[in-house]
Amino acid sequence: MLSVGITSADWMHMGDELARIEHAGADYLHVDVMDGCFCPQLTVGPQVIAALKTSLRKDIHLMIEEPLEKVRAFVDAGASVLTFHVEATSHPHRVLQSLPPTVTRGVALNPGTPVSAIEPLVDEAELVLVLAVNPGWGGQGFLPGTQRRLEAAREIIERSGRDVLLGVDGGVTRENVGAVARMGVDLIVTGSAVFDGGDAVANLRAMRATVAAGSAN
Ligand code: DX5
Ligand code: ZN
Repeated sequence: MLSVGITSADWMHMGDELARIEHAGADYLHVDVMDGCFCPQLTVGPQVIAALKTSLRKDIHLMIEEPLEKVRAFVDAGASVLTFHVEATSHPHRVLQSLPPTVTRGVALNPGTPVSAIEPLVDEAELVLVLAVNPGWGGQGFLPGTQRRLEAAREIIERSGRDVLLGVDGGVTRENVGAVARMGVDLIVTGSAVFDGGDAVANLRAMRATVAAGSAN
């Protein structure tokens, strides 16, 4: 599944941008919530997310400090997937438990965090999101060690015996999306490769076709 990040979309024409990715077959709308503390950028909050009118399921990626008391507002803003960072709280297990069954409960890992950090969380999580870039900016390069980290996360998930999705976020482009899909992920987040320059519909359609071709082989 492809979750399209709108950080680098044209916010002055967001209705058109959303229509484009809906039309081109995005599976999710990925919204990066950044608080300027957990990561250097500041983006949007629950009110803006609630205002995004789309038929797509909202995949909310919280790159914010201390999410425990803040997640409710994002659930109310219409999150279908709600992912927070294990690094952002002293109580990641408690944050997972605080999320309602109406959302897919996700936990994310920065590139510098050992994958073993998900071990105690995999019984509560429904998605593990491995970042292939250091959070804060779109358009960065896919970090080479990410494949090894995805394999390690997949091993932990398989040992748990639970049906937990594995996702990757950042640095996925038209050129590498086929190789990334072959790393055994269930969810691929991509943003600037769709919106930065050129035709977002064509970009997304091309990436979907590449992923589909890979899974057909
Ligand atoms: C990290 C964010 C990513 C990023 C997507 O900054 O979590 O979702 O915006 O980045 P690109 O543009 O590399 O797909
Ligand atoms: Zn993200």
